[in-house]
Amino acid sequence: MTRTVYVNGEYLPEDQAKVSIFDRAFLMSDGVYEVTSVLDGKLIDFGGHLKRLARSLSELEIRNPLSDDEWLAIHRALVAKNAITDGLVYLQVTRGAPGDRDFAWPDPETCPPTVVLFTQNKPGLADSPAAKVGMKVISIEDIRWGRRDIKTVQLLYPSMGKMMAKKAGCDDAWLVEDGAVTEGTSNNAYIVRGNQIITRQLSNDILHGITRAAVLRFAREAQMEVVERPFTIAEAQAADEAFITSASAFVMPVVEIDGAVLGGGQPGPITARLREIYLDEMRKAAI
Ligand code: PDD
Repeated sequence: MTRTVYVNGEYLPEDQAKVSIFDRAFLMSDGVYEVTSVLDGKLIDFGGHLKRLARSLSELEIRNPLSDDEWLAIHRALVAKNAITDGLVYLQVTRGAPGDRDFAWPDPETCPPTVVLFTQNKPGLADSPAAKVGMKVISIEDIRWGRRDIKTVQLLYPSMGKMMAKKAGCDDAWLVEDGAVTEGTSNNAYIVRGNQIITRQLSNDILHGITRAAVLRFAREAQMEVVERPFTIAEAQAADEAFITSASAFVMPVVEIDGAVLGGGQPGPITARLREIYLDEMRKAAI
């Protein structure tokens, strides 16, 4: 089955979908994105992703080209057309294609945003074996720009970080700035000490994870203590448990940090519980 994608108002087979070579996302990474997971054919925490999309666009002064209802209709149409039971919907909005390369932003009146959406089929997304085994991470310096709260498509350094991890025989990298962990290359980072869930506070230093917000809410409801503050790699290595969250990985245990093994190398009980609560509650609220 050929995948159907969405480009600027049209549903097309993927091999017929085209974007201009002058598109500012192609030339300057001038665009933002969202990733929403699909479980049982339904969108997980869609409202949260739409809200963050609106914020990312507004921070970059790009017009939100569609209404919330239109965004939802396109997501649902792509899930249906591609028969996605479990998977992801990727959405990207760019500042458009002005027809020349210029650092200055084009006039939004004559240069509309480019809109692209596609699905990725991932059968059994919520039953990933990694959730039972846990991830190994390395730490690397966080040399990204200062507006990590905006979900832009400039993902070269996160991509390099994943490759550094892979070369070291690990699954991902945690980014460290001024001695403290900011986040993972494509996820938020947490440690667990006793009944405490510790994760960096929100600021421009990290992406305000949609999964993070839900998981912290569920943790508080389950009488866990949530502490939002920076933590070091040494503290993480000495923690009872560690985990990451993202729309595609949900809650995923971390069992090794820079070679130090946590919890005897087994995913911890608090991480497992948060993953279970998150998946149960989000499946119930999926649309
Ligand atoms: N990444 N931090 C970074 C740097 C991210 O790229 C992501 C998401 C997160 C988690 O945010 P959320 O819970 O809203 O997915 C944190 C997505 C999944 C990606 O790039 O594929």
